[in-house]
Amino acid sequence: MNHIEAIIQINIIPEKQHQINSLTVIGGKDKSGNPENAGITLKPGEIVCIVGPTGSGKSRLLADIECMAQKDTPTGRQILINGLVPEAKKRFSMDQKIVAQLSQNMNFVVDLTVKEFITMHAECRMISKKDETVNNIIYTANELIGEKFSDDISITQLSGGQTRSLMIADTALLSSSPVVLIDEIENAGVNRRKALELLVNKEKIVLISTHDPLLALMGDRRIVIKNGAMSSIIETSQQERKNLMYMEYLDCKMMELRDMLRNGERIDTEINWCSG
Ligand SMILES: Nc1ncnc2c1ncn2[C@@H]1O[C@H](COP(=O)(O)OP(=O)(O)OP(=O)(O)O)[C@@H](O)[C@H]1O
Ligand SMILES: [Mg+2]
Repeated sequence: MNHIEAIIQINIIPEKQHQINSLTVIGGKDKSGNPENAGITLKPGEIVCIVGPTGSGKSRLLADIECMAQKDTPTGRQILINGLVPEAKKRFSMDQKIVAQLSQNMNFVVDLTVKEFITMHAECRMISKKDETVNNIIYTANELIGEKFSDDISITQLSGGQTRSLMIADTALLSSSPVVLIDEIENAGVNRRKALELLVNKEKIVLISTHDPLLALMGDRRIVIKNGAMSSIIETSQQERKNLMYMEYLDCKMMELRDMLRNGERIDTEINWCSG
């Protein structure tokens, strides 16, 4: 989502018009034209990750959901909301959109401070506790990222990770969109677990495409994409959740090494993480 989309997606629709109970993806066809034999129905409060090799079609699946495809995209997929074909105005009208997307590349070109930008969004949403919400969004965004930023810097000066964390906090705390699509959170240095907890607490349906094993296992389920099609849907097992804890420990250790190198230190002592 670039700044223009970010501004356009600002909406003033009352919350209840946006409530949905389910989102269904009906399979279309893969890149070779063979039928896609899998489909999935998602409920609010659920996180589903999308995994698969580069170029397999993860972003395409998110794009199909974003535009609520009706067998009219290259995949031939169909999206249902509450089991029904969504009304055309929900697909095409900007102020009726139920999907918020945080895309792989996000850049701002408007010259506003962080506070001005979020305040503008809050004003458009006509919320009652505007100042409190704006401060909370900026505070929460800073909780998601290592390199803190103040509310008086220009949004054009934010790093990729800072931009992403601000948009996640904004989407969770201010956006009424019940469906959130995130295309790759991992390279941005955002605290992944905190970001997911924040979104899930708001009872949103969250879909995340990812190459990151930690993120892939943080979801309730993961969709495996092969050759442009959903090839299987895997529920995260108990053992995988246990393994995830160890993987998070290793990740934490890697972060320590990263910070040491960043600070100009050497890594001269022998590394032994097995005891963790
Ligand atoms: N079922 C399909 N039929 C036709 N084209 C498809 C299908 N699925 C994906 N594509 C096309 O394949 C290309 C690569 O897909 P996409 O960008 O979604 O990959 P990706 O998995 O997100 O890759 P990356 O991990 O590098 O971000 C795109 O041009 C996309 O439109
Ligand atoms: Mg992609």
